[in-house]
Amino acid sequence: MKVAIGSDHAGFELKEKVLKHLQDKGVDITDYGTKSETSCDYNDVALQVSKDVRDKVMDRGILICGTGVGMSIQANKVEGIRAALVHDMFTARDTRRHNDSNILTFGGRILGFELANAITDIWLETEFSGEDRHVRRVSKLTKE
Ligand code: RB5
Repeated sequence: MKVAIGSDHAGFELKEKVLKHLQDKGVDITDYGTKSETSCDYNDVALQVSKDVRDKVMDRGILICGTGVGMSIQANKVEGIRAALVHDMFTARDTRRHNDSNILTFGGRILGFELANAITDIWLETEFSGEDRHVRRVSKLTKE
């Protein structure tokens, strides 16, 4: 599985830790930046990652800003993206099983790195359930 990771300045420190954690585990992960704590707009990296997931250059994406909110709003503007803002293990698992989320977002100003790593692991490892009701609901997640 090819995984993209990106952040803005507020998510940079946590992004670096999650990136190293996933590299150490042997995950095929690509860093989309940002590369420092210099202020930048979360929108730009969110769109780069989201478009590559949409275009199947990447299978999944992880986006980190201060709260995870800006990243999730921006990512969900891209066709085919189902970005989930997650700060707990239960949601990490169920948003894969029920929503087939393809982008995970969280807040660098909210989570410690141990919880962020655990959330990332369960999100990457959990498969979509494929149950009829969830397939139907996911198919309805389209633009109006
Ligand atoms: C940056 O200060 C902050 O607004 C951004 O990282 C994010 O939390 C927005 O949703």
